[in-house]
Amino acid sequence: MDLKKAIREIENFPKEGINFKDITTLMQDGETFKYTIDAFINDLKDKNVDVIVGPEARGFLMGTPVAYGLGIGFVPVRKPGKLPAETISYSYGLEYGSDTLQIHKDAIKPGQRVAIVDDLLATGGTMEAAAKLIEKLGGEVVSMQFLIELEFLNGREKLSQYEVNSLIKY
Ligand code: PRP
Repeated sequence: MDLKKAIREIENFPKEGINFKDITTLMQDGETFKYTIDAFINDLKDKNVDVIVGPEARGFLMGTPVAYGLGIGFVPVRKPGKLPAETISYSYGLEYGSDTLQIHKDAIKPGQRVAIVDDLLATGGTMEAAAKLIEKLGGEVVSMQFLIELEFLNGREKLSQYEVNSLIKY
């Protein structure tokens, strides 16, 4: 199936010079959405994954149906101040400033095998932060799954110690 055709491209959003990949059009079509989720599930089904982690917000949209399909749990990684119980944080550098992500301290148990699912691999900063949070809690990141990979941003290099799978590349 041609998933690229199902993704709408918006020029100069959210800033001049960015060609935004809009996955809402892929998700509103039941056939392309199911194909996408099934592709993730198919790649993960023999990897003995205990839990799926998804980063806010679009990682929730991709990650929760994958967890459901595999019959395993889902754990959110969120922006600061959103998770109600005790959290741990990881901050990472951006071109200007920094970003922080959080996870509930009791969400991952030591030794659990974790796959992270997100819509997009750009610089890899989000995924690396999610992996660090999982590892701080003693989890093992066995796979990173993306719908879209922007190859020209070299995010895969930052994640070279991990297994990275993307369904479509630009
Ligand atoms: C986007 C995207 C990924 C991340 C990829 O999320 O959904 O999570 O950026 O970029 P990176 O590889 O350079 O880290 P965003 O931060 O825009 O959050 P949102 O899903 O809440 O809009």
